[in-house]
Amino acid sequence: MLNVALPKGRLGEKVYAMFEKAGFPCPSIKENNRKLIFENEQAGVRYFWVKPSDVAIYVERGAADIGVAGKDILLEYKPDVYELLDLNLGKCRMAVAAKAGFRDDNRRTLRVATKFSNIAANHYLSKGRDIDIIHLNGSIEIAPILGLSDVIVDIVETGTTLKENNLEVIETIVPISARLISNKASLKFKSEQIENLRRELMKGMEKDD
Ligand code: PRP
Repeated sequence: MLNVALPKGRLGEKVYAMFEKAGFPCPSIKENNRKLIFENEQAGVRYFWVKPSDVAIYVERGAADIGVAGKDILLEYKPDVYELLDLNLGKCRMAVAAKAGFRDDNRRTLRVATKFSNIAANHYLSKGRDIDIIHLNGSIEIAPILGLSDVIVDIVETGTTLKENNLEVIETIVPISARLISNKASLKFKSEQIENLRRELMKGMEKDD
């Protein structure tokens, strides 16, 4: 049985559709209920819906053999897992943004509000820029508006949230997308199943192109 942690939500539904196409269907997952675990013994697969930011924890600790996590989470938390495939879903970018017209003053410590403190710290460390990180858990865009920070480091997808709050991207740090990840021991002991899944997912993606 292959245990798969899927990110709950819209991205997860797209991911499940890819897995179904790849030969790992589990029809009961489409039933409209609040269950979180679904199993198809015949196909040898068990799916769990977990919070997107928790997928890597389940996989790292072996509660799931594989899962799908955003590159943002992998870069931020550096879980000890293998990254097997870029699924080309959930595409967005990690960016620095500020109020329209913002100019950085190098003589001052830059105040950076973010959910992604490690990504932000590494980014500014590589530039040698002195910063003060203000860790927030959501609605990051409010910080520069209220004067809590000078800039934010956050995910930008369509850019609508920034635009509607009169903020603009100053620089892109890294492109982000959903990745297939595997527990390290599982890749040894269930290598055939996992390799087969990866191959079939790749085939499905080629057909879509
Ligand atoms: C993410 C991100 C931005 C928004 C970007 O927020 O933090 O706020 O999406 O999307 P856009 O460019 O298409 O407008 P999320 O919905 O995950 O909520 P939170 O960060 O406020 O928790």
